[in-house]
Amino acid sequence: MSEVPNVAIVGATGAVGEEMRLCLEERNFPLKSLTLLASARSAGKKMTFRGEELTVKELTHDSFEGIDIALFSAGGGISLSYGPSAAAAGCVVIDNSSAFRMDPEVPLVVPEINPEAARNAPKKIIANPNCSTIIALMGLAPLHDAFGLRSIIASTYQAVSGSGAQGIIELEEQVKAIATDQPFEMKVYPRQIAFNVIPQVDAFTDNGYTKEELKMLNEGRKILGLEHLKVSCTCVRVPVYRSHSISITAQFEKPVDVASAHAAYADRAGVKLMDDPANGVFPVPLDTTGKDDCLVGRVRKNLVFNNALDLWMVGDQVRKGAALNAVQIAELL
Ligand code: A2P
Repeated sequence: MSEVPNVAIVGATGAVGEEMRLCLEERNFPLKSLTLLASARSAGKKMTFRGEELTVKELTHDSFEGIDIALFSAGGGISLSYGPSAAAAGCVVIDNSSAFRMDPEVPLVVPEINPEAARNAPKKIIANPNCSTIIALMGLAPLHDAFGLRSIIASTYQAVSGSGAQGIIELEEQVKAIATDQPFEMKVYPRQIAFNVIPQVDAFTDNGYTKEELKMLNEGRKILGLEHLKVSCTCVRVPVYRSHSISITAQFEKPVDVASAHAAYADRAGVKLMDDPANGVFPVPLDTTGKDDCLVGRVRKNLVFNNALDLWMVGDQVRKGAALNAVQIAELL
């Protein structure tokens, strides 16, 4: 890789792609050029980066000549068909889709948790984990380091931004239609999302869990290097524009209490405590929207299991759950 890289964003017009461009700009990421790629529909569209107007280009298999790092966020199908050709052109692919996450030769990286994994990427592809997994692990990793994580029971409250730009539009359109007593369509979600919650994120699998729920299990094990970690998860879509919330019961190897759990977060990058419920202090999705840090609150000793805590995690799904994490991986490179 040349010292100052040429960078591309694949899916530059999407919710995550746009945030990737913002993160590169805000973090003063050192780059020689930025190439914005999307479908033929968006070719010619103008976007600004560091005060300069850039023109979106159509993604083709020749798009990666001279590119050193490509941040992919255009869905698994695009990653599967263009990721390997980008890597073959000499580029390092940082992929936000689930296409390569469980490939043993593809590192799955949260830079605050397992940065060393990014060094060993024989396929020149590094995967960005699932958004809920990143946010949950940002809250759990400090506790794991202190007490040894054994099992997790979690319920997620996932924003529509997790379904990309179309999910945000669908919520907006349904809210407007309902307020004015107009009919509306359901294109992204199987049920009405406005003023409702839907206990399905991604497709159901044979054991009754959804693919999204199993990502928390499989990706959590891979990132933490805990082959036998037990995870049971229920993923729920809620009518929130951005930022996922997660209610977690975590059981540990060692005894835990609230004070030592709080102490575990001191000096940890990317996660902050917001935990003073008696004074109404706990995180909500709007507290993290557009922000880098994940927030933890409602830390309690669980009343059912030994060595267990209950906690409430919130993080911006588009940012730390996707775009920021990908840009942080690029920074590691
Ligand atoms: P486009 O806007 O041209 O459709 P989101 O997840 O927010 O919906 O964004 C998906 C991103 O993936 C968009 O930038 C979208 O571009 C891009 N994309 C979708 N299909 C293709 C494709 N066939 N080739 C390249 N980019 C694609």
